[in-house]
Amino acid sequence: MPTETVYGLGADATNGEAVARIYSAKARPQFNPLIVHVADVATAKHYVEWPEVAEKLAAKFWPGPLTLVLKRRADCLISELVSAGGETLAIRIPSHPVALQLLKAFGGGVAAPSANRSGRVSPTTAQHVRDEFGDDLPLIIDGGPCVVGLESTVLDLSGAVPTILRPGAVTLEEVTLAIEGGLAPHAMLPPAASGSLTLRTPTTTTAPQLRSPGMLESHYAPSIPVRLNADGVEADEALLAFGPTPIAGAAACLNLSATSDLIEAASNLFAYLRALDKAAHRAIAVMPIPNAGVGIAINDRLARASAPR
Ligand code: TXA
Ligand code: MG
Repeated sequence: MPTETVYGLGADATNGEAVARIYSAKARPQFNPLIVHVADVATAKHYVEWPEVAEKLAAKFWPGPLTLVLKRRADCLISELVSAGGETLAIRIPSHPVALQLLKAFGGGVAAPSANRSGRVSPTTAQHVRDEFGDDLPLIIDGGPCVVGLESTVLDLSGAVPTILRPGAVTLEEVTLAIEGGLAPHAMLPPAASGSLTLRTPTTTTAPQLRSPGMLESHYAPSIPVRLNADGVEADEALLAFGPTPIAGAAACLNLSATSDLIEAASNLFAYLRALDKAAHRAIAVMPIPNAGVGIAINDRLARASAPR
């Protein structure tokens, strides 16, 4: 199914067997929980506990690319497999009109990880999904290219302090602003200036208990190596450029944004990584991307794409 972020591989989230088929289709490690997609806040409230901070964030960012991790309600009907056995559930309302129509018609929660095989580049067109799975899927709904192009921001509201588990199109600054607009003091984020609100990017080496187990170091990986912060390029390398002056001399070149627009760059990222992922190239060299706003999410994905496999 299309969403505004990336294409998702959807299944009835209350049906354990359907959810198990997602894990098997993706060859996904069983410990990595899934995001549930719903049409409206009323449906979300059937599944998770709903603190005031969730109400506030949902009002501001839903439908849209923000996923909230909340405690499962005691009477939650969503398969335990979706939470990978944990006590929390990740949930969001996507803004893609076709996704919304589908979810409204279905009425319940749809578990949908990105529609790629585990560890590979996320799909931003229906054709990418077909390339990835061939005839293994019963149906691919073509909703056109994804406008955001990067997965949702994952924000954990289940602990004492809201924590971003995965950076995305909704930035840390936007979340901080929205939360500081008048919350109960105990739920208040520490001021960003104090530096105590960290963008958590757990790694396999430093975080034995991953809060967002999907954030493994190697992910989004093309089949050829990815080389970051390139200031030069070899003749047998492909170049993923950024900005008005791409480095000359690459075997192939795609520019994420000639005008240095990070939103445009995010929407092109996965499609361009796929397009440059040709056996004829030794590697994909990537020009530096500013590490601010959506650039943080772009650099997060690129770091994982280039991590040791
Ligand atoms: O934009 C998106 O979020 C896309 C579209 C299809 O909605 N979906 C997506 O799903 O990116 P997936 O499964 O590829 O990534 C889900 C991320 C993983 O990093 C996973 O570990 C984390 O969310 N996650 C899911 N449930 C969680 C939970 N209960 N607690 C902590 N992290 C969770
Ligand atoms: Mg994914």
